[in-house]
Amino acid sequence: MKFIVEIVEAGSTSTCSKGESVLASMVRSNIKRIPSGCHGGGCGVCKIRILAGQYETGKMNRNVLTIEEEREGFSLACKTFAEEDLEITVVGHMKKFYGNNL
Ligand code: FES
Repeated sequence: MKFIVEIVEAGSTSTCSKGESVLASMVRSNIKRIPSGCHGGGCGVCKIRILAGQYETGKMNRNVLTIEEEREGFSLACKTFAEEDLEITVVGHMKKFYGNNL
């Protein structure tokens, strides 16, 4: 089963397989709009907010993503797994380095 993941501010989309993280699908699709670091839920640079769609998450460092943030729809792309098509926005603190024109 495959899902479409869209970064809404960029109109960039990737196709994400069940069990593949949002970050991994973007890397595989050569979309570099989500900052990438540890790929293990530890550093927090890949923080996103899910605007629409159901998803599951893996273990995430609570120092970089609080439970309150998670309740508000924030997540870490490397530990976010689509359960249906997703609309996301990039909110990680390195976002500024990626601008809006990539
Ligand atoms: S890349 Fe480090 S938490 Fe996602």
